[in-house]
Amino acid sequence: MANGLVVLISGRGSNLQAILESPLGEQVVAVISDHPDAAGLAIARTHNKPVAVCCANTPTEVEEQLLQTLAQYQPALIALAGFMRILSPRFLAACCAPLVNIHPSLLPAFRGLNTHRRVLAAGEREHGCSIHWVTAELDGGAVIACEKLTVSNDDDEESLANRVLAIEHRLYPRILVQLLNNKKEQ
Ligand code: GRF
Repeated sequence: MANGLVVLISGRGSNLQAILESPLGEQVVAVISDHPDAAGLAIARTHNKPVAVCCANTPTEVEEQLLQTLAQYQPALIALAGFMRILSPRFLAACCAPLVNIHPSLLPAFRGLNTHRRVLAAGEREHGCSIHWVTAELDGGAVIACEKLTVSNDDDEESLANRVLAIEHRLYPRILVQLLNNKKEQ
């Protein structure tokens, strides 16, 4: 039976750390990276979680490795946490569990990269982060939850990134627990 959460990362892993340090941490069954030197892998190992690296030469081969690795763990849910790869429709159709992502903007505004810089350039007064289902469209799946902050006149790109990240670290574990509990009740 499908069980627990697999987290996919590519780098720093601060959201992974927030997940592992929350009550949700015990439900994490594995951490997978598409980069062998992702700092988040050390965080996973510190928490005694199984880790895997899927970094074949081509995107298609990486997706094949991911499918095989995920199938070993049969998670109920897969959380992308700074996983910097656009997944193909073929991968999504074949994947053994639904995928969720966290994005540092109030979707559908500011999909893609450099969100804090673009929010400041646009003179937005509201910013935040969103949790959404993963589809083949970049940051385009249905939004599950979001949390807002007010952009202050003193904010620069770094301060905004830090403030949004602090919200992410609270929101992502809380929403993932709810999604996993909903799946158990189904
Ligand atoms: C976060 O800002 C997240 O919203 C975005 O990538 C960043 C990952 O940071 N998808 P980290 O690796 O969790 O520190």
